[in-house]
Amino acid sequence: MTIQRPKGTQDLLPGTVEQWQYLEETMRSVCRDYGYDEIRTPMFEATELFQRGVGQTTDIVNKEMYTFLDKGDRSMTLRPELTASVCRAYVENKLYGQPQPVKLFYIGPMFRYERPQSGRFRQFHQFGVEVLGADQAVVDAEVISLVWDLYRRLGLTQLEVHVNSVGCPVCRTKHRALLQEFLSTRREELCKDCGDRYDRNPLRILDCKNATCQAVTIGAPTTRDTLCEDCSTHFGRVLGLLGVAGVVYRVNPRLVRGLDYYTKTAFEVMVEEIGAQSAICGGGRYDGLVEEIGGPPTPGFGFAMGLERILAALQVKHLLPEEKPKLFAMLVALGEKAQTEGFSLLSALRTHELPVSMDLLSRSLKAQLKAADRLGARYALILGEEELEKKVLVIRDLTLGEQIEVPLNQAVEEIHKMYQRGVNA
Ligand code: HAM
Repeated sequence: MTIQRPKGTQDLLPGTVEQWQYLEETMRSVCRDYGYDEIRTPMFEATELFQRGVGQTTDIVNKEMYTFLDKGDRSMTLRPELTASVCRAYVENKLYGQPQPVKLFYIGPMFRYERPQSGRFRQFHQFGVEVLGADQAVVDAEVISLVWDLYRRLGLTQLEVHVNSVGCPVCRTKHRALLQEFLSTRREELCKDCGDRYDRNPLRILDCKNATCQAVTIGAPTTRDTLCEDCSTHFGRVLGLLGVAGVVYRVNPRLVRGLDYYTKTAFEVMVEEIGAQSAICGGGRYDGLVEEIGGPPTPGFGFAMGLERILAALQVKHLLPEEKPKLFAMLVALGEKAQTEGFSLLSALRTHELPVSMDLLSRSLKAQLKAADRLGARYALILGEEELEKKVLVIRDLTLGEQIEVPLNQAVEEIHKMYQRGVNA
C-alpha cells in the first residue's frame, strides 16, 4: 500500500498555496499597520508548559495533545496553541525588561489530536496576536478592532462577534459555587464529560454541545451575574471602546472559552456559512498566565484564528483572488546551442528580477509554445538555429499573435524595457 499523509493533515499544492500567501500577507500588513512584531517559537515545548498554561481540566490537555518522550526521556508536546509558548518566550527572553506592552503576532501550524471533520484538522494553522504587559480595557478593544479590521480588508463582513466577561478568580469562585448549586439536583442528567467537569471546572458545562446539557443549563447563573466591580467596569469600558471603533458585537453571557487561562474579556467570531466548525477566531484576556508559568505578574490579551476556516469562509463567499501571478516571458529554445544561448539570456533577465521561465524537457516548438500559453506567459522568446545564425531573437506577443525580431546582443535591454512599460502601464 502506498504511504498516505496522516489523518487530519493537508498537502497544500500550488494553486492553493497562493491563496494562503494572500491571506498571510493581508494578516502581516494589518499587523504592520497596528505596530505588532512577529515572533516564532519552537514547534514543540516541554509538556508541562501546556499542562500549566492551558490547564489540566481542558480537552486540549486531557485528550488532544501530541505528547512523546524524546530520546532523553523528556516529555515533549507538539504545540496545540501558542499563547503559552509566547508567554514562556516573554519570560525566558526577559521581554518584560523592554518598553511595555510588548505587541506580538504569529502565523504557523498547531497540532491537536481531534476527530477530523470539515473545518477541524489535526495539523491546522493559526494567526494570533498577544499583547503582554498592559491591563487596560483599551488593549482588549484595540485587539478586537484589529480582528474586525482584518476581516473588513478581506471582505468578510457578515460575521458575528460574541463578547463576554468571564471575570477574575474572585468573581469566578462566587460563580462556581452558584453554578454548582444550580446544577446539584440535575447532576445525573449531564453527559459523562460534564459529570467530571462539575467538580473540576463547572464553567465549561455552559459550553457543552450536548443537547441535554444545554437544556439543563437553561437559566443557569452566568459569569456576568457575579462580576466584581473592577471586572464590571473593565467590561463596560471595553464595550464602549468597541462601539467607538465601529465594531458590531453581541454580548453573549454564555460564552466561555475552552482554555483555562482566561480572565475578564473573552470573545469569539463566528461565520455561519462554513458549517458546524463556525468559530473562526477566539481569544481574550489572561492576566494570570505569565505568573502561572513562572514569570513576573503580567497581564495579557490576545486571540488566535484558524487559517483553514477563514479560507473556507472566503471561498464560500467568492472572496479569494483567482489569478496566479503570471510569467512575463517564456524562453522557447530549439536545440542544444540555442538552449545554451537562451540560458545565458535568461540568467541576465533574472538578474533584473524579471519573471521568466524556460522549457526544461527539450520539447518541440509546438509543445513549448503550448506550455508558455498554459503558464500565462505574455511573450515567447524564440531561439532556433535560424535565429542563432542571424544573431536575432524572436519576441512573440502571445496575446496579440504578433512578433518582432531584435538583435540578440540587445535582447536583454529590449525585454527589460518592455517589462518596465508593462509594469508602469
Ligand atoms: P482556540 O479557540 O483553541 O484558542 O483556537 C483559536 C482558533 O483556532 C479557533 O477559533 C479556530 O478558528 C482555530 N482552530 C482551533 N482548533 C482547530 C482545529 N482542530 N482545526 C482547525 N482550526 C482550529 C486558542 O488557541 C488560544 N490560544 C487563543 C488565544 C490567543 N487566546 C489568547 N490569545
